[in-house]
Amino acid sequence: MNIISKLPDVGTTIFAVMSKMAAENGAINLSQGFPDFPISAELIELVNGYMKKGLNQYAPMPGVPVLREQIAGMLELKYGYAPNPGTEVTVTAGATEALYAILTALVYKGDEVILFDPAYDCYDPAIRLNGGVPVHIPLTQPQFSIDWDVVKSKITTKTKIIMVNSPHNPSGAVLTSNDLQQLEQIAEQHDLIVLSDEVYENIIFGATHESVLKYPALRERSIAVYSFGKTFHATGWKVGYIIAPPALSVEIRKIHQFLVFSVNTPVQYALADFLKEPANYLTIADMYQEKRDFFQTHVKASRFDIIPCHGTYFQLLSYKNISDLNDMKMAEMLTVKHKIASIPISVFYQNKQDDKVLRFCFAKGEETLEKAAEILCKI
Ligand SMILES: Cc1ncc(COP(=O)(O)O)c(C=O)c1O
Repeated sequence: MNIISKLPDVGTTIFAVMSKMAAENGAINLSQGFPDFPISAELIELVNGYMKKGLNQYAPMPGVPVLREQIAGMLELKYGYAPNPGTEVTVTAGATEALYAILTALVYKGDEVILFDPAYDCYDPAIRLNGGVPVHIPLTQPQFSIDWDVVKSKITTKTKIIMVNSPHNPSGAVLTSNDLQQLEQIAEQHDLIVLSDEVYENIIFGATHESVLKYPALRERSIAVYSFGKTFHATGWKVGYIIAPPALSVEIRKIHQFLVFSVNTPVQYALADFLKEPANYLTIADMYQEKRDFFQTHVKASRFDIIPCHGTYFQLLSYKNISDLNDMKMAEMLTVKHKIASIPISVFYQNKQDDKVLRFCFAKGEETLEKAAEILCKI
């Protein structure tokens, strides 16, 4: 059979590669972004309860109404905007499905989509599979900020969407209100749609998250994507949601219904109950800030340079003073020889830019972080 790959340049994701390498080498796995501590026992009880009550069949296509109502209430509390649960909130199988459904609904052949490198790895393939043209713009080092003049220079008559991600994976950088104002102005001027990946909205340190939902003119042309996997450290549940204006939601739901139709029913009911208590999502940042500070304090004595982390559960460390190896080789060497796994940052760049930086996930117990830091201090 002659199979012509639609993604000839894409292999297994780096997350799977590094996690496998970590397992094979008995290494501490700070590569893939998943927490190693338990999720809320209350949330588990709630899911169990709804399963026992028999809520185990298909949920409504856009999500169960009580969850969409609770999401709207939560967003009103956090960002001062309550989306219409009926027409603007869609529950998805994680943010990954959300992003794919959105790009499939909106991207036509030849449409240009601006995205910033280092970029989360599912963005570019989802654009290309839909015939779009990804336009990669590198973030400005060392703060991983957006140079809006460069953005303006890259806009053409074919530009349709601009994708942003804050707090940003892998850098931990966050967008400021000034960034959002620039984004709003550019999007209005060029009639662009903004696709805002805000999955780490609740993991932000010493600042408030600047959501596109806070800016009325921006909100009208924006689609925001969220993930309960990140907020409630239940990445394996794969439940997220989309907030989009009604006309866009109609089109996105047409794709969502044929990708998955609907999302895990008992988990949706349980999340609806859990969201009734705002402390359940408002205290997440403190917990992760402690972990970030703990990891940074223990890594300080090493020869790695700590790159500031303002959000997410990822810490970038530069090894430019330690080795000339490229970042893939360095990550391999650290996993095989020193028994600590990380993610090389070059994989998030279209041009495979190698700045000698590795990403470490600090969503781990203190003992693991301490052991990891001990290893790093010996390198
Ligand atoms: C920036 C970013 N967007 C989207 C996702 C996907 O989220 P989910 O697991 O809910 O599909 C991730 C997961 O790591 C992420 O880091």
